[in-house]
Amino acid sequence: MVRVLGIESSCDETGVAVYCEARGLLAHAVYSQVDIHAVYGGVVPELASRDHIRRLVPLTRKVLTRAGCGPGDLDGVAYTHGPGLVGALLVGAAFGRSLAYAWSLPALPVHHMEGHLLSPMMASSERDGSLDFPFLALLVSGGHTLLVLASRIGCYEVLGETLDDAVGEAFDKTAALLGLGYPGGPQIERVATEGNPSRFRFPRPMTDRPGLDFSFSGLKTFARNTLRDHQSEAAPRSERVEGLRADIARAFQDAVIDTVRIKCERAVRATGVRSLVVSGGVGANRAMRETLTVRMARLDARVHFPPPELCTDNGAMIAYAGLQRLRAGGERALSFGVRPRWSLETLEPTGP
Ligand code: KG4
Ligand code: ZN
Repeated sequence: MVRVLGIESSCDETGVAVYCEARGLLAHAVYSQVDIHAVYGGVVPELASRDHIRRLVPLTRKVLTRAGCGPGDLDGVAYTHGPGLVGALLVGAAFGRSLAYAWSLPALPVHHMEGHLLSPMMASSERDGSLDFPFLALLVSGGHTLLVLASRIGCYEVLGETLDDAVGEAFDKTAALLGLGYPGGPQIERVATEGNPSRFRFPRPMTDRPGLDFSFSGLKTFARNTLRDHQSEAAPRSERVEGLRADIARAFQDAVIDTVRIKCERAVRATGVRSLVVSGGVGANRAMRETLTVRMARLDARVHFPPPELCTDNGAMIAYAGLQRLRAGGERALSFGVRPRWSLETLEPTGP
């Protein structure tokens, strides 16, 4: 039974997990730094690195105990090698590689986005086993927005990406200007449920021309202008301000979901591939899940989501991707680096 310890530290979540090839996810734990960064309205890299240092040892102890594993039960240590914040990555990489060296195990550097991309496979092997290559993947997080054609492990073609803000970033910035908390995605989703869907209509950027690239920075500006234009009329009554915020949040979220839906439909039509994986933090958005599930079904395509807690950053996806990489052999040397910027398309396929 092959078992891999996975360590995630690329941004503001410390994640540790043990994944077993035969039995699936044995244990996983995530420590979110949200409270530390919330007062600044975004992630402060130096604070992130320092907190990863504090959390990694206790979290790893806890996960190994829960999984009922000692070092002798493991076959490799996977860690996030990039992309992400350089200091945060260095903490996880130094920790992961030190453990691997001390325990005489292969160290497995993992691409964070490959982790997100493969994460529904980890769940589907437990649930229905129905996700197979080739598939399309919509990777939507705080730092990335990618539409990818995955032909096999390590063989990924980026069909479209954002030209400016990532979807999660657009959620976070729009939430900030509406005075909602950080991270903005869950806040916008919560407030949008109270919003009137027909009061405002935001544009669907870059859907009026061919192609699969995205642009989200204009939506944030549209939200800012809408707020400015309607704020004064709402000023006297605080419940009207609340209503305005909810209506803007709703219009923003509808525009994002509709834009993403249009691009996914295009990608299905262009490639003929009828499986779509949706992963990354924004993939936890329930309205997006519902829309994509319904609209993809009309094209005879199926959408696969990781469970919501495995959509945001976690160690399980790193352990799972590391397990796939183990087949290609790990590294045992002490020296290491990290790759804050790293294209998915440069990965090596594993196996024949
Ligand atoms: O994948 P992730 O945890 O970290 C990165 O690698 O970036 O994604 C975090 C992003 C944040 O921008 C957050 O606002 C967004 O995912 N997010 C959501 C939801 N939950 C998290 N966006 C929309 N709706 C949600 N429910
Ligand atoms: Zn992520």
